[in-house]
Amino acid sequence: MCGIVGYIGTQTASGILLEGLQKLEYRGYDSAGIAAIWEGEIHRVRAKGKLQNLQEKLANWQIPAPIGIGHTRWATHGKPEEHNAHPHTDVSGRIAVVQNGIIENYRELREELKAKGYVFHSETDTEVIPNLIADELQKLKAIDSKVSLLDATRQAVNQLEGAFALAVISADYPDELIAVRQQAPLSIGFGQGEFFCASDTPAMVAHTRTVLTLENGELARLTPTGVDVYNFAGDRLRKYPKTLNWNPILVEKQGFKHFMLKEIYEQPGVVRACLEAYLDSDWTVESTTSPIRLGLADSFYENLEQVQIVACGTSWHAGLVGKHLLEQLADIPTQVHYASEFRYAPTPLMPHTLTIGVTQSGETADTLSALDMEKRRRSEMGSKFAPKLLGITNRLDSTIGHLVDYLIDTHAGIEIGVAATKTFIAQLVAFYCLALDLAYRRKTIPLDRLDQIVTELRQLPAQIESILEVQERYVEQLAHEFVETQDFIFIGRGINFPIALEGALKLKEISYIHAEGYPAGEMKHGPIALLDAKVPVVAIAMPGLVFEKVLSNAQEAKARDARLIGVTPMDDQEAREVFDDLLPVPEVEELLSPLLTVIPLQFLAYHIAARRGLDVDQPRNLAKSVTVE
Ligand code: M6R
Repeated sequence: MCGIVGYIGTQTASGILLEGLQKLEYRGYDSAGIAAIWEGEIHRVRAKGKLQNLQEKLANWQIPAPIGIGHTRWATHGKPEEHNAHPHTDVSGRIAVVQNGIIENYRELREELKAKGYVFHSETDTEVIPNLIADELQKLKAIDSKVSLLDATRQAVNQLEGAFALAVISADYPDELIAVRQQAPLSIGFGQGEFFCASDTPAMVAHTRTVLTLENGELARLTPTGVDVYNFAGDRLRKYPKTLNWNPILVEKQGFKHFMLKEIYEQPGVVRACLEAYLDSDWTVESTTSPIRLGLADSFYENLEQVQIVACGTSWHAGLVGKHLLEQLADIPTQVHYASEFRYAPTPLMPHTLTIGVTQSGETADTLSALDMEKRRRSEMGSKFAPKLLGITNRLDSTIGHLVDYLIDTHAGIEIGVAATKTFIAQLVAFYCLALDLAYRRKTIPLDRLDQIVTELRQLPAQIESILEVQERYVEQLAHEFVETQDFIFIGRGINFPIALEGALKLKEISYIHAEGYPAGEMKHGPIALLDAKVPVVAIAMPGLVFEKVLSNAQEAKARDARLIGVTPMDDQEAREVFDDLLPVPEVEELLSPLLTVIPLQFLAYHIAARRGLDVDQPRNLAKSVTVE
């Protein structure tokens, strides 16, 4: 989950690499570095901490090298210190490599290289790679003096185990940049007489929108005149780039103090876009087709008896809401798994199962591995067990897009803030659409009820706008009171229990305040012992099946002196009396309420973190795209 960039062309590489790294900083920000080739030498600058530190170091760097590579790191092997920062070079300083991923067999490789006299200066897994390439170059040169950097890199990567993406340059090959992909994302950008590689396309869109996404097991040679792609066996492949439909403005803050705040405000638009894409505006109860147009092939709907959802973090919370909807609306038994657990403790194989992977980045290694494992183990069984994989994502161009048979685009666009906000709400809308579509086809709810839900769904963007309008100032003020708070509890029930989990996750990841989400009814079975006047309790209490129950659970907390904050409709008298502070939302049918109740919780987390002076968009120890298992 680091970010890598590479450039070869006619311009000065350093500025282009830095610009690219800025767009990739969301992937990791423990250290950063660049290396470039100029006058037969590799020149390298690295800095611990944020990219800003590297920028400062580069202020007086006057090397007009037209080829270079760059890296922004999320530390896995070795502390975030300068000597562990990428690029790493071989022992002679003639080859430089940046890597995103983990080399699982690096210890064995390092011992073998050490025995041959190679010396190591870092604790990273990456440092074996330039040395391995140097070693392969030496071996190949003994056979044929015309050996290429590509061949040596290919020999080296065939010895690596793990998931990785690489960019490689060598002072002895000043017109070549080698890019490698194996289970970690890497794309190539095509400009006029210049070429790029990057872990994610925003790093290149300022220069080109013509992009080729490498597949696993491929490596590319970039020269000033073109790009050749090969597989790890050395066969040349025919590959065609695509044109991205991208607006670079989307990755700017546009006047907001943080990307997270901007993305919170984008939510009405995101929900609108998703509903416009999937709701049939001409549908009536007399229609003979589904009110939802997901564009999935007919085969998707055949033989569908149960669903399993794999995801991580916030996407896992979206999966929990999805389970509620699929079971309550479409009557399909659904299980939700942490992807990181599922892979190593898979459930027994059941026939006719749909597996859904939910991921905003489309690159989360745990989720991709779980989907891949499911695909493999089911492919070996009979047709009853055949894999049927659906991806729910906003990044159709990502790895999940290549892995699954069916895709739902959540229309959220790219999200930069590490804390997921608009992508979460978009995943929820995708689950509403899927559950309603299946409910229609399986005839599990009456048509007039379906019509009522669809009608209310259409009102949600305006209702989210009203929360944003009314609440920000108020939540900002309320947040001041919790700047020193050490623990928070979030409670909810039914379809709002996952929202309690999401509220707690948002708060802990950006404000570093300890927070837990619980099903409200569980409090009395243990967690209530935590409560006193110092532990605020945020309760999600929306009218419906469990409204009174949540209010009673909130009262139980109040009786233990907890300060009670209610996410509840403004004009509910009963709720007003129970709560010390209100985060009001419009009254809406309970089933749809998660799309509203999550908004104040995002605001609360944002304002507490901002008030504490923390780096909201890039919280410590985290990264936006978690491409290691
Ligand atoms: O890209 P994904 O949706 O697969 O990411 C999953 C989690 O890493 C992610 O949701 C994480 O928990 C976020 N930082 C939450 O805000």
